[in-house]
Amino acid sequence: MFQDKLLQGKRILVTGGGTGLGRAMSEQFLRLGADVYICGRRQNVVDDTARELMASHGGSVKAFAIDIRHAQAVDEMIETIWQDGPLDGLVNNAAGNFISRTEDLSPRGFDAIANIVLHGTFYTTQAVGKRWIRDKHKGSVVSIVVTWVWTGSPYVVPSAMSKSGIDAMTKSLAVEWGRHGIRLNAIAPGPIYTKGAWERLSPGKDNMSRKESNPMGRQGELSELQNLATFLMSDGCDWLTGQTIALDGAGYLANGASFTYLADLSDEDWANMREQIKAANERDKAQRTV
Ligand code: HXC
Repeated sequence: MFQDKLLQGKRILVTGGGTGLGRAMSEQFLRLGADVYICGRRQNVVDDTARELMASHGGSVKAFAIDIRHAQAVDEMIETIWQDGPLDGLVNNAAGNFISRTEDLSPRGFDAIANIVLHGTFYTTQAVGKRWIRDKHKGSVVSIVVTWVWTGSPYVVPSAMSKSGIDAMTKSLAVEWGRHGIRLNAIAPGPIYTKGAWERLSPGKDNMSRKESNPMGRQGELSELQNLATFLMSDGCDWLTGQTIALDGAGYLANGASFTYLADLSDEDWANMREQIKAANERDKAQRTV
C-alpha cells in the first residue's frame, strides 16, 4: 500500500510500543524505514519487542522502561531521545482500562486509568511539543482514542472521560500549534483484538468483538490500524490536523456506546470478572520494572 521507504529519515516514538496496537504500529513504521523508539513499564517486554522487530526488519528500535504517569520520567526519556536528534512523530498509544460498575470504583481505581491515559498522554505530548517549538522542527502527533469520545460508554467511565480529554487536546493543540507546523490527529478504533484489552474488558469469554452487530460483519485488523497511522505520520497531507478518525466499520454509528449489554450482569458476575481482571493485572505487574 505504501512506498518501501515512505518513512525513511523519520524518528517516531510509540508509547506502549512493546505490545498490542503499539507494537503493530511500531513494526509498520520500522518496515517503512523509520527509526523507532518505544516505551513501556516492563523492561523485558520492550527489550524483547525491540530485538524481535530489528531481527525481522533491520533498522533501529530503541526501548525505554518508563511509566508515563511520572512527568519527570517522561521528560528525561524525551531528553535522552533528543540527544540522537529531534523526533518527527509521536504516537500516544499507552493506555490502561478495565470494566467496572462506576459505583464500585475506588479513587485509586479512577486515578490508575486517568493518570495513564489523560495525564500521561499530556506529559508526553507537551515534552515533545515544546522541543519541536524550541527547535523550529515540525512534527506529527497521532493519539489512539476510542469511539466513546462521541458516545460515552457505560462501565468504562474513567477511560471514556480520559480519552475524551485527549480528543479535546487534539483539537485544541491543532489550533495552538498549527503555526509551528505541528499536526495532531487521533484514531478511534473499534474492537481490534489484543490480549491486554481483552483480559480487562472481556474477561473469560469474548463479548467485545460484536461481529454480528457491526455493519461490516467483523472486527478490525491490525493492518488497518497500521495503515491509517502510517498515513497520518507521513508527509503529503500536512493540512490534515485536529481530526479524530473512527476506524470501526461504522460500528458506533450503528450501535452507539459499547458495553451496554453488561447491564444484565449480577453481583456475582461482577465479582468474578473483577477477580479475573485483578489476576491479569498482577501477572503484568510482576514483570514491571518501573
Ligand atoms: C475495580 C479495580 C479493578 C477492577 C483494578 N482496580 N482492577 N477496581 N474493578 N476490575 C483498582 C484496584 O483495586 C486499585 O484500587 C486501583 O484500581 C489500582 O490498581 P493497580 O492494580 O494497583 O493499578 P496499576 O498497577 O496502576 O494498573 C493500572 C491498571 C491496569 C489500569 C489498573 O489495568 C493496567 O496496567 N492496564 C494496562 C493495560 C490495559 O489496560 N490495556 C487495555 C487498554 S484498552 P484500590 O483502591 O483497591 O487500591 C483501552 C480501550 C480499548 O484503553 C477500546 C476497545 C474498543
